[in-house]
Formats: sequence, structure tokens, C-alpha cells
Amino acid sequence: MRMAKINPKDDTILLLIAIFILSASLGTCYGREGKHWRHSEACQFKKGQGHRGGHRHHCQHHNRLSPKVNGDGYTVPQDTMTSLAGSSGRTTTFNVLDYGAKGDGHADDTKAFEAAWAAACQVAASTLVVPSGSVFMVKPISFSGPNCKPGIVFQLDGKIIAPTSSQAWGSGLLQWIEFTKLTKIKIKGKGTIDGQGSVWWNDSATVYPTDELDSVSSTAQNSTISSTDMISTNLSKMPSTKPTALRFYGSSDVAVNGITIQNSPQTHLKFDSCTDVQVFGVTISSPGDSPNTDGIHLQNSQNVLIYSTDIACGDDCVSIQTGCSNVYIHNVNCGPGHGISIGGLGKDNTKACVSNVTIRDTIITGTLTGVRIKTWQGGSGSVQDIMFSNIQVSEVHTPIMIDQFYCDQEKCKNETAAVAISGINYMNIKGTYTVQPVHFACSDSLPCIGVSLTSIELKSVQGSHLYDPFCWETYGELKTTSEPPISCLQKGKPSNLPSQLVPC
Ligand SMILES: *[C@@H]1O[C@H](CO)[C@@H](O)[C@H](O)[C@H]1NC(C)=O
Ligand SMILES: *[C@@H]1O[C@H](CO)[C@@H](O)[C@H](O)[C@H]1NC(C)=O
Ligand SMILES: *[C@@H]1O[C@H](CO)[C@@H](O)[C@H](O)[C@H]1NC(C)=O
Ligand SMILES: *[C@@H]1O[C@H](CO)[C@@H](O)[C@H](O)[C@H]1NC(C)=O
Ligand SMILES: *[C@@H]1O[C@H](CO)[C@@H](O)[C@H](O)[C@H]1NC(C)=O
Repeated sequence: MRMAKINPKDDTILLLIAIFILSASLGTCYGREGKHWRHSEACQFKKGQGHRGGHRHHCQHHNRLSPKVNGDGYTVPQDTMTSLAGSSGRTTTFNVLDYGAKGDGHADDTKAFEAAWAAACQVAASTLVVPSGSVFMVKPISFSGPNCKPGIVFQLDGKIIAPTSSQAWGSGLLQWIEFTKLTKIKIKGKGTIDGQGSVWWNDSATVYPTDELDSVSSTAQNSTISSTDMISTNLSKMPSTKPTALRFYGSSDVAVNGITIQNSPQTHLKFDSCTDVQVFGVTISSPGDSPNTDGIHLQNSQNVLIYSTDIACGDDCVSIQTGCSNVYIHNVNCGPGHGISIGGLGKDNTKACVSNVTIRDTIITGTLTGVRIKTWQGGSGSVQDIMFSNIQVSEVHTPIMIDQFYCDQEKCKNETAAVAISGINYMNIKGTYTVQPVHFACSDSLPCIGVSLTSIELKSVQGSHLYDPFCWETYGELKTTSEPPISCLQKGKPSNLPSQLVPC
């Protein structure tokens, strides 16, 4: 369509040739389907920022020509990158093995990673390589970027494991691997980040030392592990603060693609205060009974796209917290776990705001809840403009839930203030449940409004049907007949809605 506007034929042909040459010189270019609001950084190497539309066009064009494009993303074309970056001859690849990493799974490779990062940080669009075939033990580390050049690619093809000795964690840390204050940062590859969380999950201090001693003795014959390493193994209990495995903070234009994140002590992947985030082709895996192991945690982040991702964990597959808006999640498999949740919001009388969230084309299997909104009594702010569509549930305890009385202790104080909930749409939610198909428990003082249900078909797993659909102070519309029938939704709006709410 763009082309059609250029009139003289010769110009069109020249332009096409130019596009072809440019595309070919770029090597493979990763194409992204259906993300109109994002741009592909592979294409930006050409001319820097500011020409999104045109360059995306080139990439899509090239995709059709190139048979090499595959789901793993593009291979960074070194030569092209160097010349285009104008840094004539300067290397753009930094392999952790060249900075002293052993990659034997025992030696402490933290310093090597820090050194490789320090070097990569100086070069725009550089690549830090963590090669396949090696296992790197890396202690808590921060890849910090306020002074780094933009466009760094963290090419993870090997495995990174967390230390299991309590000493490495001091009195407790909030994260293990952290990327902060970066612009245009991408982690991609076939590699794995393994938090070795089982030493954290069992609270018992007596179980843990056996495990550590086993792993030490099995490698003691090989001189890869020194005697001081063995002595330094602290057999005491892990600290009570459990770290998130991989956290991004204060960054923009973040992508995580292809990697596996497993066995985190706590949340696997977290984005805090980030904008323009993409997660795709990622696998997150930990046992269904591992405590508090959320899959992906979003907080204060906007323009987040998550797709083609499998999440199995012991808590929420995706947890969307305060300050998030424009979140789009599709083609995600969730389970085991607790489902996909917005909240808990408003804890300790805080204000929470979440808006414009879409969850669609998602399969949820064997989880506690399917799609859930949970808020604490006493909070303020709002949750609005939420769409859950094409959700296939299988043997989920409670597929559809709004809980404005969320409480993780035995008992919570009754309060009148609440996070306002409005504009919540459920469409095509189908499959099986084991406890209750629909549970809406809204605030007496601030009822849920604009709750709409379309094409709901939920069957109980034979013999396990315990409760009928439940609604409390829930207003909205049942747009089609549902299975089971949902008659508890109240039509229209409540008469007692407070005139002023705490604005977001
Ligand atoms: C944690 O406990 C489970 C079951 O109690 C056990 O199977 C597992 O080996 C323990 N893991 C560690 C690292 O102690
Ligand atoms: C010790 O090293 C040898 C080769 O150097 C290797 O074949 C063997 O698997 C290693 N053993 C252990 C327990 O790591
Ligand atoms: C092990 O760590 C604990 C704190 O986590 C500390 O109090 C203790 O002294 C350490 N023990 C050794 C042998 O280093
Ligand atoms: C909602 O979010 C999507 C991205 O998921 C964005 O394209 C759209 O513009 C947003 N809508 C509003 C009203 O902000
Ligand atoms: C809170 O309210 C519920 C429902 O109205 C009531 O059953 C419960 O006893 C109250 N709890 C407290 C601590 O007042």
C-alpha cells in the first residue's frame, strides 16, 4: 500500500531493489506477528530510532523472502551490526568464557559475568554471550545500566544456576539476577536460568545440609572444586526473604525470548517500573507445590505483551499488580499453578490502579483459579477495562473469580473502602471445573459494575460439583445463556454508588 503511492515506475523498482539488498545484508530478521504497537529492534540497526513504520515494512518483506526465519528469533548479524553501528572493527560480542568464567557448575562465575557485562555495556547493540554446553554458577548479580549503551542482547544459550549455600544470600535478597535502568535490553536464546529453589521451599533446616553435602562429595574427586569451597559451604538455613530469579527494573523496551526459567525460590520473572515489555517463547517451570513461585509478576509497568509462553508453577502463572496498564497476554499455557490474577490489590489501605488488560487464547489446566481479580478490603483506586476471552479451562477449581475480600491470613478486618472494579468482560470461557464455576464476591460499599459474561460453558468434572455460581453485589449483564445458568448477576447499576472515588 505504501508502495502504490510512489508514482514513477522506475522509482518503485529501484526502491524494491534497495529494500531487497538492505534486507539481505541484514541476515535474518525476526518478524513479530500482530504486535502493532511494538517495533522490531532488529530493524532499527539500520538507522536508529524514529522510522518505525517504514522499517517494519522492510522486515516483513524480508521475512517472506527468508527461509531461515524460525521461532528462536533472529541471529544477530555481527558484521552488519558493526558496520551499521559505525564502530568500524570494534567487537560487539562479549563471551563470558573470555572473561574467566569456568562454566563447570561449581566455580563462582559471578566476576566473569560482571566483567563481560562491563565491556558489553560500553558498546551499543552489543551481545553478551553465555554459551551452550556450560553451567555457570552465578551469585546475586545486577546488570545495571544507567550508563550503558542501548540495545544490549544477552544471548543465553547455556545454563545459569543460583548458589544453594545460605552464605551467598546474606540476610536475604529480593532478587537473584537483576537488570536495571536499561534501554532496549533483550535476553534471548535456548538457555536456562535455574534458581535451584528446592533448598528454599523446604523450610526445614535439617533437610537442606544433606542435599548440599551430596552435591559436594559427588564432585570432590575432580579438582574443579577446591577445599575452601567445601569449607565455605554454610549448612545453615536459607534466609526467610526469598529472591525472585530474574527481575527487570526501571527499563524500557525489554524483551525476553526463548529461554527457560525454572525452580525459582520465589517469583520467576518480574517486571517492575518497565515500559514496552515483550515476553515470548519462554518456558517457566517449577513444581505445583513449590510455595510462592509466581510465574510472571508485573508491577508499575505499561505496554506489556506476553505470548507463546508456558508457565507451570506453585502460585499465580501471571500476577498483575498495581500500576499496570495496557497489558496484552495471549497464547499462554498455565498450570499447575493458581491461574492468572490481577492483584491482590489495595493491601494495607494502599491505592491500586490497573486498567486495560486483555487475557486471551489461553489454556489453563489443573489450577486453583482460572482468571481472577483479587483485592484487599480497605484499599482504594480501581481495576477497569479488563477482557478475558477464549479461555480454555480444564479441571480448574474456580475458573472465574472476583474476590474483594482477599485475605491471606486467617482473618482480615472488615473495612468499607475498596478498590473499585468495573468493566470486566468474560467471553468464551469454556471447559471443566472441580469446585465452583463462577464466584463473584464484591464489596458492599463499592459493588462491582459492568461485569459482562458471554458464552460461558463450564461443566463440572463428574462427581466433583460442589457449589453453584455465586454473586455478591455484582452488577452487569449475562449476554448469552450460559452453562451452568448464572442468575445471580444484578442488572443495571447499584443506587448507592459513592459519587466520588479516589482517582487513579
Ligand atoms: C524438599 O522436600 C521434599 C518433600 O518433603 C523432598 O522430596 C525434597 O527432596 C526436599 N528437597 C530438598 C532440597 O531438601
Ligand atoms: C570428573 O571429570 C571427568 C573428566 O575430567 C568426567 O568424566 C567425570 O564425569 C567427572 N566426574 C564428576 C563427578 O563430575
Ligand atoms: C552461616 O550463616 C549464618 C547466617 O546465615 C551465620 O550466622 C553463620 O555464622 C554462618 N556459619 C558459617 C560457618 O559461616
Ligand atoms: C489498551 O492496550 C492496548 C495494548 O494491549 C493498546 O493497543 C490500546 O491502545 C490500549 N487502549 C487504551 C484505551 O489505552
Ligand atoms: C465481616 O463481615 C462479614 C460479612 O458481613 C461477617 O460475617 C464477619 O463476621 C465480619 N467480620 C468481622 C471481623 O467483623
